[in-house]
Amino acid sequence: MTVALTAGGVTVLADLSERRLPAVTYWGPELPGLDAELAAALTATSYPVAGSDDAEPRPRVALLPEHRTGWLGRTGLSGSFAGVDWSPAFTTTSVTLDGLPVGGFTAAGAGRLEVTAADDAGRLELRVVLEMLPPGLLRVRAAVRNLAPETYGLDELVLALPVPSEAVELLDFGGRHTLERVPQRGPFGFGAHVRENRKGRTGADSAYLLHAGTAGFGFAGGDVWAVHTAWSGNHLHYAEQVFTGERLLGGGELLLPGEVRLATGEAYESPWVYAAYGSGLDEVARRFHRHLRARERPVPAQRPVTLNVWEAVYFDQDPDRLLDLAERAAALGVERYVLDDGWFSSRRDDRSGLGDWVVSPDVWPDGLHPLVDRVRALGMQFGLWFEPEMVNPDSGVARAHPDWIMAARPEWPVESRHQQVLNLAIPQAYEHVKSQMVAILKEYAIGYVKWDHNRDLVEAGDRTRQGRPGVHAQTLAFYRLLDDLRDTFPELEIESCSSGGARVDLAVLERTDRIWVSDNIDPHDRQRMLRWTTQLVPPEYLGSHIASGRSHVTGRRHDLGFRAATAVFGHLGIEWDLAEATAGELADLAGWIAFYKRERALLLAGDLVRMDGYDDRVLVHGVVAPDRSRALLAMAVTDSILPDPAVRLRFRGLDPGRRYRLRPVLVGGPPSGLLPPRWWGEDRSGQVLTGAALERAGVACPRVHPDQVVLYRADAV
Ligand code: GLA
Repeated sequence: MTVALTAGGVTVLADLSERRLPAVTYWGPELPGLDAELAAALTATSYPVAGSDDAEPRPRVALLPEHRTGWLGRTGLSGSFAGVDWSPAFTTTSVTLDGLPVGGFTAAGAGRLEVTAADDAGRLELRVVLEMLPPGLLRVRAAVRNLAPETYGLDELVLALPVPSEAVELLDFGGRHTLERVPQRGPFGFGAHVRENRKGRTGADSAYLLHAGTAGFGFAGGDVWAVHTAWSGNHLHYAEQVFTGERLLGGGELLLPGEVRLATGEAYESPWVYAAYGSGLDEVARRFHRHLRARERPVPAQRPVTLNVWEAVYFDQDPDRLLDLAERAAALGVERYVLDDGWFSSRRDDRSGLGDWVVSPDVWPDGLHPLVDRVRALGMQFGLWFEPEMVNPDSGVARAHPDWIMAARPEWPVESRHQQVLNLAIPQAYEHVKSQMVAILKEYAIGYVKWDHNRDLVEAGDRTRQGRPGVHAQTLAFYRLLDDLRDTFPELEIESCSSGGARVDLAVLERTDRIWVSDNIDPHDRQRMLRWTTQLVPPEYLGSHIASGRSHVTGRRHDLGFRAATAVFGHLGIEWDLAEATAGELADLAGWIAFYKRERALLLAGDLVRMDGYDDRVLVHGVVAPDRSRALLAMAVTDSILPDPAVRLRFRGLDPGRRYRLRPVLVGGPPSGLLPPRWWGEDRSGQVLTGAALERAGVACPRVHPDQVVLYRADAV
């Protein structure tokens, strides 16, 4: 039996012959003329040798790689009944496509292939799902159920897809607090490249997306295959090349010792592992963007301009100052005002009060009403910060319920930012947090929650269960709490923040509406973080702020033009003590906010384009309207000045045969050091040229100082 699914220009062909688990025999650009005969030929020719001269050829490795077939790489299911039955042999018992039984050769568009299988001892039931989503994005997951009277100890369940041997380079990401999603690239060699995260959150250093591609693949071209493990707890991504030369990309959840033990009838379900093929990285990214844009509750492109008070006041929550900030924000055109950390209980600094979600009477004697009411009267939405999974040991909740704190031993884990993790898998702890949050969200007109998570999970055990590992249960409880709150408050928007950008993955993005990219708002660093964070997440989901002139994290100073022209390619916000801004800065800032409001339908709903071919000091990117009628593009010069005239602005993504007027966009003052090229013209009306000419020949660049952005617009004429 073979099943072919084709959508968005991508085909996947799964072989299920001889009642074996599905094995992908083709995954790549759409195969024209794919019929039963071609599918049979592709399947027949996909059998590799077993590795020794006299052995039988073994079947192509399954989505859930099985040791028993002769596969000697990482296996999909690792576990045993106390050391017995550790290599199950699965036989399929049913195969359905969108719920209907299939057999023979089936070709379909987007759809969900669901396979159930039983092991030969009849002790385990397995369900494997392979889904082709409309944007040509694949996702796979599996669930295992214990049917035996004994307990099944599950060590790991991973899923993997094969990539061809032309995929010779790997690209994934590293990073840390204040420098998230730093790309790393290298050869796809023999053995396994395994990226593990044991932080109990996605991690600032998560692999994020693991790509394998043909030599020199870039944004525009090369064949690229990528996987993403959609999980916000411990997880892994891996690329493996075994001795036969077969190459796989896979992922799954990482389990702690003894963390998942299935009693009779119990099941474990893996996270989704997403898989995207693209001709170039932009196409890979676009599949993820289209998927998120098609989600049940999409975020609108009309994202409200936000002011977050954190870098303006930190813990100094003086009501008069915060009211004044609200007035100043509204005067600039801000549409959402977010009160950050420090509004509750004894939280005057990061040492106390976390976990007690009650408005501080010391700071807010009349509650938050005066501020919320004023913010609303000024026409802005009100947002509030929470860190629901965390406690300071110096808090009412930690003192009353020390056993709610996650720990593997009687001693608490090493402290981080003076905080510990509250075990949401304990029903009473869950109810405590939920009821306190619900009470606040009911009392005040709150449209937005910034949901933070500021430490790694170390020795995260459940003290009510002898310290057994609790990260898996905690991750599920986190999702449940998000789901419960969204059910109770359907209009509520939630931002996923975790010491900046340490919780960014497609599982949290099923339930949240924005991510905080990084605590580092320095535009010099943000240029690169936005460039790479958009590999998975579309711009309208990226919290993108204009901070004060001197970065609080790097100490570097930057012009407002550079800060703003960087930030407008995400969901724009301000994070700056506006009382300190000069009149000139405020006027320019108002200009940028007006520009963003005029253009956000394009900035936040267009197709992302990132250009290859510049050295790392020049970053060219932009967004193109889906109908190719217009585009906004940016050239960021982040190091020494452009070596004029060698560097030309080239831009792809417009209709090659259509003519466009290309002209500079100057908001506020011109970029520092500007020497405009002649084609801009005295009146800056620019030039008319075709999409092809702009892509192939390009135009001369202006000279500007380092750390400047030159913006352009292209409008079809
Ligand atoms: C984290 C977040 C910041 C801010 C602080 C508050 O570091 O990333 O944006 O909310 O917590 O304590």
